[in-house]
Amino acid sequence: MEKEELQAIASQLKHPTGEKGIEMANMMHETNINMTRHSIQNLNISAENKILELGHGNAGHVEFLFEQAKNLKYYGLEMSELMFQEARQMNRNFVSQKQAFFSVYDGNIIPFEAASFDKIFTVNTIYFWQNPQKLLSEIYRVLKPNGNFCLTFAEESFMKTLPFTQFEFELYGTGKVLKLIEKTDFRVVYTESQTEKVKSKTGELVDRTFTTIVLEK
Ligand SMILES: C[S@@+](CC[C@H](N)C(=O)[O-])C[C@H]1O[C@@H](n2cnc3c(N)ncnc32)[C@H](O)[C@@H]1O
Repeated sequence: MEKEELQAIASQLKHPTGEKGIEMANMMHETNINMTRHSIQNLNISAENKILELGHGNAGHVEFLFEQAKNLKYYGLEMSELMFQEARQMNRNFVSQKQAFFSVYDGNIIPFEAASFDKIFTVNTIYFWQNPQKLLSEIYRVLKPNGNFCLTFAEESFMKTLPFTQFEFELYGTGKVLKLIEKTDFRVVYTESQTEKVKSKTGELVDRTFTTIVLEK
């Protein structure tokens, strides 16, 4: 594949836009649904929880989140205007019933008051964080005391085998993420890595190792 094509794939994964962005978001949803469900299940969601997600993509998984407990409220934040629109459209019933709320933000400052959420999660976004330390402190700020944050990402050992990750991506292994977390006030509750089979761009099945880290304020 040409350098320009690889660069275009990386840009779409970082910030989906236009017709190609919609296609890319559908593909991401399909490829990453196991990681997303795993992240949601590790949050130990209970009734009445207020939950924030950073970088939801097309948010085709929000229905699954609402199956976890009664009277939940879901808040989604995106940097991509296209993903914000797609997510609102896909979840229009939840939006009109005021169960799901979507907004666009700058990727650095979380536009909510301190101690707003019981649970926060993010899947496959850490590679694109402009200032990881600052965003972690923002996540800490908007989490309620004893609230949980679940961070899910594919391991560097797998990601570096994908040719497009040389552009736009900062890759992380568990050790590198835990080093970032050490500099915050979060307590590590649980770390788990698992390997799953996913379809590669050329159609064959490959092993992807991903990690979920559950933190507590
Ligand atoms: C690779 S996609 C992952 C989407 C979905 N979470 C998944 O795993 O399929 C990354 C998404 O995160 C968004 N994004 C990138 N940087 C972000 C940030 N700092 N905060 C929130 N979202 C971000 C992008 O717009 C994109 O929709």
